[in-house]
Amino acid sequence: MAARLEHVAIIMDGNGRWAQQKNKPRTFGHIKGARVAKKIITHAGNSGLKNLTLYAFSTENWLRPQTEVSFLMRLMKRYLQKETATLIKENVRFSVIGEVEKLPKDVQLAIQTTKKLTEKNTGLHLTFAMSYGSRQEILSAVKNIAEKFKNGEVDKNQITESYFNSHLMTSGTPDPDLIIRTSGESRLSNFMMWQASYSELYFSATLWPDFTTKHFDHCCQNYFQRERRFGGTKIKNEESFI
Ligand code: IPE
Ligand code: IPE
Ligand code: MG
Repeated sequence: MAARLEHVAIIMDGNGRWAQQKNKPRTFGHIKGARVAKKIITHAGNSGLKNLTLYAFSTENWLRPQTEVSFLMRLMKRYLQKETATLIKENVRFSVIGEVEKLPKDVQLAIQTTKKLTEKNTGLHLTFAMSYGSRQEILSAVKNIAEKFKNGEVDKNQITESYFNSHLMTSGTPDPDLIIRTSGESRLSNFMMWQASYSELYFSATLWPDFTTKHFDHCCQNYFQRERRFGGTKIKNEESFI
């Protein structure tokens, strides 16, 4: 049985379809999606989880219609401004992974403020992946290390997995034990491809705006029933046929 669950990451998908099913604009789904995120954060914190990462906006999501992108940016800013007090109250430490410099300045400012106000909190470590793409993250780590190599700051033998890890945006946070994706899609969509090497994956058919704390608990219970082998086996010295 899976022994510990320190990091849950969620690919929050299905907002647009949820709204369209109700003959509403996609933005309606994003508003409901933000409310669901708030509930899941509180619940995860109350459950004693250490790390929760929420995939909120991918590098590829910049390709969506400009009206949807700017709505999402305004929503994120409003969310941070409104919810920071709750994050403080709930002892949540907030951080962001992604190409933050690509976000509008006011969103960057809201991020900085929330990070600063929650930096000493000791409860749940909440990470929003915003303008995040795993390929871009890996490329940026490679470029960074190449620069250090060129300057003679690092030797080839020193470039280990843990050295590489320390150059990723997730540095300091353990790899996700469990990655949940909602809305019935079974893909990673450029999310934590290095970190997910041995993550357990749970694909839920539920659209994100319909996702509840009960669904979350169900995913965690399912995780605890799994056996994580990491390439090994529990069986010791079985008799050989030859
Ligand atoms: C997830 O919902 C939110 C973001 C990617 C920003 P979608 O907007 O992808 O909703 P669907 O997948 O189109 O239903
Ligand atoms: C992945 O969802 C990104 C987020 C949930 C933020 P998408 O809706 O962008 O993914 P694809 O396009 O279906 O792969
Ligand atoms: Mg989607």
